[in-house]
Amino acid sequence: MRAAIFTELNGPMSVEDVTPVEPGPRDVIVRITASGVCHSDLHVISGALPMPPPSILGHEGAGIVEEVGSEVKGLQVGDRVIGSFIPACGVCWHCLRDESHLCDNTYAVMGAPRAHRHDADHTALMTMTGLGTFADMMTCDEMSLVKIETNLPDEQLALIGCGFTTGVGAALNTAKVQPGDTVAVIGCGGVGMSVIQGAKVAGAAVVIAVDPVALKRETALKLGATHAVDPSEADAIEQVRALTGGRGVDYAFEVIGTPATVAQAFEMARGGGAAVAVGVSRFDEMITVPSFPLVLSEKRLLGCVYGSAQVRRDFPKLVQLVENGRLDLEHMISRTMGLDDINEAFRAMKDGEVIRSVLV
Ligand code: APR
Ligand code: ZN
Ligand code: ZN
Repeated sequence: MRAAIFTELNGPMSVEDVTPVEPGPRDVIVRITASGVCHSDLHVISGALPMPPPSILGHEGAGIVEEVGSEVKGLQVGDRVIGSFIPACGVCWHCLRDESHLCDNTYAVMGAPRAHRHDADHTALMTMTGLGTFADMMTCDEMSLVKIETNLPDEQLALIGCGFTTGVGAALNTAKVQPGDTVAVIGCGGVGMSVIQGAKVAGAAVVIAVDPVALKRETALKLGATHAVDPSEADAIEQVRALTGGRGVDYAFEVIGTPATVAQAFEMARGGGAAVAVGVSRFDEMITVPSFPLVLSEKRLLGCVYGSAQVRRDFPKLVQLVENGRLDLEHMISRTMGLDDINEAFRAMKDGEVIRSVLV
């Protein structure tokens, strides 16, 4: 198979032929049809998310089942699947409490070598989150896959694997936005744009997009934001307060991953409201919020992983919302390209040129 290999911190990816490891009885081989390029992949490359090279990155992908192990029960050859970057085993402590986004097997699936490089040492390659979608094939545990029946295009299904589910879920599951609520979204990339769509479908009255890049603000207004503000023009907190009668929003989502913008989200939330930390800050950072508003104004700071999604319930639900035109995946995809263009996809992300690039 061919895969893009992460070989060194902050270095380019190297697209190579590699040899997959023999699958185990509970493993599934998937032919990858599309893979979104997410900022979390860049977080691994920059060291913000610790994962030692060499490895196969990519955690937002869809494909077709090519082969199943002898103990695989829920999938058959030919099934259309979306990779779940957190497995949903269905039987662990968290899964039994409808918290599959915290599945106890999250780290276990990352530990398995899934391929070998064609170098002198046949170096073993781990895969990001047990998937490794920057490749034409992947071998993963059955618990990391969700079967989907739809005619939506591959590149749209890929986004459901991470950014779309994380963002829409942050609004619907984590915050539980209600009709008439007011929302601010700091950072309008693929994930932030999905928070905006989630807030819209929940019936939010005010959705304020905050992003310094004009393309992002313009797209946000098309996808459901009611207002867009440029944080490089004037103080973002003041602009959001001005749009909410001086009070602040019910929910302020941070969708970049820096402690400074999480603190900003906390300031944007009204008394009794909540800041929702969706972006992944560097593993060694601390997030500081002022004590008085936390206690005396009952402001809450909510963590959010994978949009608190129950993927076996929510992937099909999101598919149906897209099929029926209530959510828009088509306009989230700025470019499709081949695996060989992966470094260009990261450049375009860094330069703010795209909402999402998808490798097909
Ligand atoms: N204020 C507002 N927006 C900002 C700021 C800022 N100070 N700095 C950067 N941004 C915007 C960028 O212009 C960009 O539109 O944040 C957006 C980030 O988008 P992407 O790079 O596309 O990232 P995305 O894939 O959406 O992921 C965002 O969520 O899942 C996590 O790990 C992921 O931490 C990352 C975050
Ligand atoms: Zn992601
Ligand atoms: Zn589980």
